[in-house]
Amino acid sequence: MKGTVDFDSIREDFPILGTKTTNDRPLVYLDSAATSQKPRKVINAVSRFYRTCNANPHRGSYKISEAATEAYEKSKKKAARLINAGAWEEIVYTRNTTESINLVAQTWADENIGKGDHILISEMEHHSNLVPWLMLAHRKGAVLDYIRLNGSRTGLDEGSMEEQMAKSPKLVSITQCSNVLGAIVDVKKVARRAHERGAKVLVDGAQSVPHMSVDVREIGADFLAFSAHKMLGPSGVGVLWGRRELLEQMPPFLGGGQMIRSVEFQDFTTTELPWKFEAGTANIEGAVGFGAALDYLRKIGMDRIREHDVMLTKYALEGMSRLKGVEAFGPGLDRLDSKAGVVSFEIAGAHPHDVATIFDGEGVAIRAGHHCAMPLVVQILGKPALARMSFYLYNNAQDVDAGIAAIEKVKRTFKLK
Ligand SMILES: Cc1ncc(COP(=O)(O)O)c(C=O)c1O
Repeated sequence: MKGTVDFDSIREDFPILGTKTTNDRPLVYLDSAATSQKPRKVINAVSRFYRTCNANPHRGSYKISEAATEAYEKSKKKAARLINAGAWEEIVYTRNTTESINLVAQTWADENIGKGDHILISEMEHHSNLVPWLMLAHRKGAVLDYIRLNGSRTGLDEGSMEEQMAKSPKLVSITQCSNVLGAIVDVKKVARRAHERGAKVLVDGAQSVPHMSVDVREIGADFLAFSAHKMLGPSGVGVLWGRRELLEQMPPFLGGGQMIRSVEFQDFTTTELPWKFEAGTANIEGAVGFGAALDYLRKIGMDRIREHDVMLTKYALEGMSRLKGVEAFGPGLDRLDSKAGVVSFEIAGAHPHDVATIFDGEGVAIRAGHHCAMPLVVQILGKPALARMSFYLYNNAQDVDAGIAAIEKVKRTFKLK
């Protein structure tokens, strides 16, 4: 298959995919939007770090501490290259996307957003890109506005975007890809409109950066947040990229060791980027593992990963469209260019939690719930919960077949037509 990943050989790099799960079934993992599996190269990099150079970076003047410092910084250089950041010093490591967004909310936004100011997000945000802004709005007396979804709930409503932009928000914080609908947002266009109105732009890249080429300079973002664990890396490492001039102006986030230049009994000064935002001992082994994940992704190529996602998504949507009573949400087969490998679905007559349990009995891991996007799932789509399959580079057509077969099993179990 020209241009696509040789996924069969890729699967062998992921030890967990060779294991058995419920009812002694081989594991079929269709929950990568929640977290990704890890290749041997990542597992080995973490283990090697512990075995050969475990030390606290920056603090020691001995060989293995220097090696740890180098490994930590090298990981940031790889993250910077992935998103075409201006400099690796613009890469701040946090715990996850959630913390990256909260960092901006509690530093830049806390200083720049006041009573009556508008903050603009969309109706399809993950709670991570919604609750921090609600908290800020409540704290400051600011107003949180929403860009509405279009009528088919496949993307943003252009008219609503224009209407909201006319209020000249101070900040537009927008997902590049919905973890429920799989809808890919043209964030370049959103950023252009926001900048014309004088707003700063934060892009939630939790679902996009792991799956496609994202170039922060090309999209014109001011901040980008994403998580290592969704892109083959360890948990506990998140990225906040910000434009250097903004990061330099911002007050620190957490106070403590590492983030200071000097401390007196009644005062302190902060150190240079990115350390100013990284108080305390970092998740060094996580950063090292993330570096290995970035090498792995780079070798395959983000464009090829995107092609592979599209191939699997198309196959899944086609399979589901042949089944009666099954509805998939978000962009469909006619909009694959703006659809990520995330397929939320409903089987009429079966509760999503029962669906996930029956899938599990077949060895197929999927997620059911509100997917941390309650306003979207409950208020906009009007569902208590949805089942969701999501794909990554190690999935193949047989995994999708297993998902489709599990849907058929649900229908048989509940005697659905
Ligand atoms: C779109 C989106 N934003 C933010 C997050 C939060 O990521 P994390 O849990 O790594 O902080 C997620 C997680 O699923 C997500 O899908």
